[in-house]
Amino acid sequence: MANQISEELIEQIRNANDIVDVIGEYVQLKKQGRNYFGLCPFHGEKSPSFSVTQEKQIFHCFGCGKGGNVVTFLMEMESFSFFEAINHLAERSSIELPSNAMKQESTLSKESQQVLSAHEWLTKLYHHLIRYTKDGKTGFEYLQDRGITIEAIDTFQLGFAPNTKDFIATFLQKKGFHEQMLVKYGLLIRSQDDTVTDRFRGRVIFPIRNHLGKTVAFGARAMEGMEPKYLNSPETDLFQKGKILYNFDLAKKHIRKQNEVVLFEGYMDVISSHQAGVPNGVATMGTALTETQAKLLRRYAETVIICYDGDNAGIEATYKASKLLLQLGCQVKIANLKNNLDPDSFIKEFGGEAFKREIIEASQTFMSFYMRYLKREYNLSLEGDRIKYLEEVLKELAKLESSVEREFYVKELSAEYNISVDSLLEEVNQYRQKSGSDKDKREKDRYTNKVKMSSGKLLPAFHNAERQLLAYMLQNRSIADKVQEEVGISFNIDDHKIIATHLYAYYEEDNPEDVSIFIDRITDEKIRKLVIELALIPTQTDISDKEINDYIQTILNESSTGVSIKQLKEEQRLAEQQQDPIKAAQIALKIIELQRQVKHLN
Ligand code: UTP
Ligand code: MN
Repeated sequence: MANQISEELIEQIRNANDIVDVIGEYVQLKKQGRNYFGLCPFHGEKSPSFSVTQEKQIFHCFGCGKGGNVVTFLMEMESFSFFEAINHLAERSSIELPSNAMKQESTLSKESQQVLSAHEWLTKLYHHLIRYTKDGKTGFEYLQDRGITIEAIDTFQLGFAPNTKDFIATFLQKKGFHEQMLVKYGLLIRSQDDTVTDRFRGRVIFPIRNHLGKTVAFGARAMEGMEPKYLNSPETDLFQKGKILYNFDLAKKHIRKQNEVVLFEGYMDVISSHQAGVPNGVATMGTALTETQAKLLRRYAETVIICYDGDNAGIEATYKASKLLLQLGCQVKIANLKNNLDPDSFIKEFGGEAFKREIIEASQTFMSFYMRYLKREYNLSLEGDRIKYLEEVLKELAKLESSVEREFYVKELSAEYNISVDSLLEEVNQYRQKSGSDKDKREKDRYTNKVKMSSGKLLPAFHNAERQLLAYMLQNRSIADKVQEEVGISFNIDDHKIIATHLYAYYEEDNPEDVSIFIDRITDEKIRKLVIELALIPTQTDISDKEINDYIQTILNESSTGVSIKQLKEEQRLAEQQQDPIKAAQIALKIIELQRQVKHLN
């Protein structure tokens, strides 16, 4: 593992990366009391049960039970090795790692590393060509013509692939990349005569970066009049269209800050909008929004503004994407582009300012869009159609949580179709009663969450006392010392016993009062989860000795009365293991006493 990096350096790197900031790059976190809450990135959920504690630098999900510190978070989230996580954090906080540490093992296969490296070289080469050379002039002029600024060309690392048979082939082979791999990842094409040639020729290049900013594929647009218009890298293990969103890496900090993301159809829309002052835009790449992508967006922002083409296909795609996003609990808004325009052409025609103010900032609610969307299917001059249309609209209205919103649209409909507000509302309420279970279920979810989170309250007193005491011990060495002396391992719950044993050893080795470091030493997943759960129990900063003594007493009372023979035998074994014959003998006496009592009862 990290044998080349000293413990001190790891500590320094960890301290330089606040867990709230790091996780905040993946999850929209809201402060609630002492903790931050958000939607768990490890399992699907609509209401937040994922918590992060700044004080203790740990995270824990009450839903799926995952938990850990900033390093384990990244290992889980990015499938990083320990070293990769440390490396990532070092880069993030501009801490330099010793050069010998750079050669550590990666979780990526050799081939994947090669592929990423080839893409990185190509990104730079294509970009260099378009910016500084005659070979790239066609592409440069094309982009200028479309109103793309140099700043944007640099930001998005746009490039140009010259119309040469083996420009790239030669370049990459000279660098020692394997031909077969380059063919597999769609950078080169093998012809009939077994020679290889460049795949992208005479095209503007859009590097497609993953969420970490690494190029994993290319989109390539033909010059005017050439076919096909767009040519992309094939799908591979590193590039799956349904999982990636174009520009997510650059947009994510803006998305988090604004709690809002704008969803586009294509590269050019993202880039033009960026120029128009909309930096929180991402795009799917010629395919419908997938559930994976939708979930990703949901985790980062509450509101998604869909800004697809204004044509029929765009409207259909908008409806589908809305449904998916609404199901996941997003607020959906729709940017209304008229006249078959797409965002890029709107900006070209009316300017960036108008786009921002009249399209993005004035985007409509899903309900307004839906009414417009539905209308296309009906001939509203016919009474029968009108009624059907209204029924559909009211059904959808019934799903709105806010009564103010419901009434708003009902009034609108009432005025438009000359039907009384009351009868419309009555209909809406009937639909609501029918599907009422939805909301109840959500309430229940929230309730079970609460119960889980404060489950201590429902536990027997001794169990609760053990949890409380361990929570204090995790953050206070002297309390741990006291408990070690007075309780030892006489905790009644086996898992608590294990944690206490670990904790005594941990403090004996003179380690700091820091749960985040402590949990690194615990390999058992179940125990680790429990430690984190315990660490999140609210504690008082100025707990009195009396309260601690009360907890201790509660535990001891239980362990002498309710204790089972089996538990005692286990304790006896532990005492023997720890070479404590006196204690072992005391326990043996207790066991005999208990056995006698049991016999007596029979
Ligand atoms: P469009 O065909 O609407 O292209 O595809 P466009 O955005 O109007 O393209 P320009 O403005 O003429 O350059 C929408 C988007 O879908 C992606 C591209 O990102 C494109 O911008 N796409 C389309 C692909 O990635 N591959 C394809 O084969 C087609
Ligand atoms: Mn388009």
